[in-house]
Amino acid sequence: MRIYKEPDYKAVSRRAANLISAQIISKPNSILGLATGSSPIGAYQQLIMWYQKGDLDFREVISVNLDEYVGLSKKDPQSYHSFMKEQLFDSVNIDPKNTHIPNGMAKDLVSACKDYDTFLSSLGGTDLQLLGIGENAHIGFNEPSNFFESNTHVVHLSQSTIEANARLFPSIDLVPKQAITMGILTILQAKKIVLIASGPKKAQALYQTLLEPITPNVPASILQLHKDVSIVADEAALCLIPDELCTKISKR
Ligand code: F6R
Repeated sequence: MRIYKEPDYKAVSRRAANLISAQIISKPNSILGLATGSSPIGAYQQLIMWYQKGDLDFREVISVNLDEYVGLSKKDPQSYHSFMKEQLFDSVNIDPKNTHIPNGMAKDLVSACKDYDTFLSSLGGTDLQLLGIGENAHIGFNEPSNFFESNTHVVHLSQSTIEANARLFPSIDLVPKQAITMGILTILQAKKIVLIASGPKKAQALYQTLLEPITPNVPASILQLHKDVSIVADEAALCLIPDELCTKISKR
């Protein structure tokens, strides 16, 4: 595990974008696992800038997203399909046929989850999985629970996640109560993981993730078991972890 402690969100975004662009440059047909939410927006903007300058080429990249709300159509402005188009896909030369996001409108959600897993297995795992982290330490929408759910599944969003995501909806009542998310095993099958965290609201979750025992009550704590995780976080998100511990964790 490696911790990149950056002064602020801008630096976090640049660092994360650096790691993603290194992946694309070293393997132009990389399979990228992508995330939505506020955390990756700055990194996506940086990647778009490098693409516009001619320094990055997404032509062969394949993307698979972590999650999608149940009940929102692809065109719904709050759907993660819309988010990805607005924040990245429409501004780079990724082939839309190579972009994959769970279908939250499927009539049979269980089959949709199975199909997503079959597809992910056929790819053999992602080369780089980008993650944000919830205030309750969820990754994807794997909420705190009594067990780690391995595969893509339908999840009931916790009240704290609904409240945290309400800022993106006209009213809290409109936040979907369910989502489809990649499971923990699928996330862990990534060759590399880059987790972005910014701001003091993520401090407790990062502390538990990095320093407390692994437990499904702190879903991100499972990342302690992965051999190539980069935590890219600002000082505010790392404020509960002294510098010497950051160094120690980076040597794990
Ligand atoms: C989004 C996702 C979530 C978010 C998390 C943090 O695809 O999987 O786990 O990364 O909820 O959200 P932000 O970045 O908005 O704080």
